[in-house]
Amino acid sequence: MLKIIVIHGPNLNLLGTREVDIYGTTTIDEINKELEKCAKKNKVVLKIAQSNHEGEIVDMIGAAKKNGMSAILINPAAYTHTSVAIRDAISASSLPAVEVHLSNIYAREEFRHTSLIAPVAKGQVSGFGKASYLLGLEAAVGLLKGEM
Ligand code: DQA
Repeated sequence: MLKIIVIHGPNLNLLGTREVDIYGTTTIDEINKELEKCAKKNKVVLKIAQSNHEGEIVDMIGAAKKNGMSAILINPAAYTHTSVAIRDAISASSLPAVEVHLSNIYAREEFRHTSLIAPVAKGQVSGFGKASYLLGLEAAVGLLKGEM
């Protein structure tokens, strides 16, 4: 079965209580549960991780192919706007990556309007809350099945 790694970046462990006016009250566990349901429906396996550490995320991406992953679904969170290292790791992995954001990063502060990740991702879903992750997963599956 195809395996997809899901990476939640910094501070996403705080979802549910973090800036609820922006990110809502859904917790990361609830998002993960819905992702697992969607994965089951699409007959793919997920490896889900959250990290607040840039280097750890780089290591996870670097090991993804060797660990049998076929695609990357990532919410790089604040690292979206700063991390050349995560961008380079995605590029080096040669795996298709889908970037997701709960909030619409283009409707927020100007520093969020630039994603260093977007140019090395197959595409981006931004602004639909937890549905961004589910749409992103559907896109990753579609890419792997050659439907997109
Ligand atoms: C985020 C948007 C980022 O700008 C922010 O730093 C986050 C979350 C989102 O999912 O909307 O931590 O990636």
